[in-house]
Amino acid sequence: MSEAKKTATLTIDGASYELPIHSPTCGPDVLDIRKLYGQAGVFTYDPGFTSTASCESTITYIDGEEGVLTHRGYPIGDLAGKSHYLEVCYLLLYGTLPTATELETFETTITRHTMLHEQMATFFRGFRRDAHPMAIMVGVVGAMSAFYHDSTDINDPLQREIASHRLIAKMPTIAAMAYKYTIGQPFVSPRNDLDYASNFLRMCFAVPAEDYEVNPILSRAMDRIFTLHADHEQNASTSTVRLASSSGANPFACIAAGIACLWGPAHGGANQACLEMLKEIGSVDRIPEFIARAKDKSDPFRLMGFGHRVYKNMDPRATVMKQSADEVLELLGVDDNPLLQVASELERIALSDPYFKEKKLFPNVDFYSGIILEAMGFPTSMFTPIFAMSRTVGWISQWKEQLSDPGHKIGRPRQLYLGEDVRAYTDIENR
Ligand code: SDX
Repeated sequence: MSEAKKTATLTIDGASYELPIHSPTCGPDVLDIRKLYGQAGVFTYDPGFTSTASCESTITYIDGEEGVLTHRGYPIGDLAGKSHYLEVCYLLLYGTLPTATELETFETTITRHTMLHEQMATFFRGFRRDAHPMAIMVGVVGAMSAFYHDSTDINDPLQREIASHRLIAKMPTIAAMAYKYTIGQPFVSPRNDLDYASNFLRMCFAVPAEDYEVNPILSRAMDRIFTLHADHEQNASTSTVRLASSSGANPFACIAAGIACLWGPAHGGANQACLEMLKEIGSVDRIPEFIARAKDKSDPFRLMGFGHRVYKNMDPRATVMKQSADEVLELLGVDDNPLLQVASELERIALSDPYFKEKKLFPNVDFYSGIILEAMGFPTSMFTPIFAMSRTVGWISQWKEQLSDPGHKIGRPRQLYLGEDVRAYTDIENR
């Protein structure tokens, strides 16, 4: 960590405490309170972590006011337009863009890890056919600890590397198998002659009864969706992975914890919830009814795909996603898709509404992704699994960064206790 160049003075009951202030490469200064409880005997209170930096990191930076997102300094718009997902994976994992040789070696390594232990297919068959694919992914990824013992020792850098490659490589296979299982079709094995996105599309949509040709424009759009979801600072699921890892849990267990957290509709589950909301709205003339509900404090309804803890401007991923949606729908000849019309009109109305402007509620990454995925043929239940497989590289990169910090320790927050003070036990006959 950078040496503190200035301090803040905190005065409590007449006593003063000097708190170091650290300055980042970019973003707000950070008040270092690590010694506060030891010195002043007080905790800080920040239940949603709205003003709390949980770690130091060099991977991803977000400027919420300006709508900026960078990975290792590279803006997301450049990466989405000029790079591709496995190159972004390399960048997130190792901190630099790869040379041609480094990239070829990395892509070959990932490709050769895409198959799943054959006995894990049996594991899938324990689920009901109507299981949500996320329920299957949480279970199967956690169960990888039971199949890949030779990459669970977090203190062995080689095992950490192999676990990283296995997780990035196998998540599309697992997600595709979860999908195939729920629709009663046979599993489709990955192919080494296909790129990452094409392999995933084929594993999801090919059937033994006929050949399957991957549409290169759909594959490119799929790859771009993976890139747009790859990492995002210390969001809820990444923080879950870091907290699980802080106890020394193995990488498969930590990623399973991240998948579980991502599933929530306030987080990665929003893409499914957003499309279901657009379908419920159904037509442009019903938008005002839903805008009114979103503003009604007595109604728990929220516009799914809108708002963000950090972005108080347009989510730069949503901007790229919208362009991709236009391309894919035009290619598929469904650019008159009523859902896209509802989404575009909802965005226009919301962005001009004083409530949303005052609260700085803009479309986020989940607003347009569902429209593309549905147009590609995915059911809404597969939207969050696709988010989870894209984010695996972010979770893994943050997990590796945390383990590489010699000073890292188990995460153990305190609390503001408002319960009963100590009291005597009352025997049941006296209650
Ligand atoms: C992701 O953290 C990340 O980086 C996440 C993510 C990533 O890549 O990892 O970006 C992925 O999770 C994107 C967000 C997807 N979720 C949704 O689209 C669900 C709908 N959005 C909301 O649930 C909400 O905006 C959150 C959860 C995203 C953010 O909530 P906050 O930061 O806790 O803000 P808040 O709930 O305190 O809301 C502030 C105000 C409230 O009104 P007041 O109490 O101040 O009067 O804005 C209102 C909220 O009622 N508000 C909304 C709203 N979101 C917030 N009102 C209507 N519709 C919404 N969507």
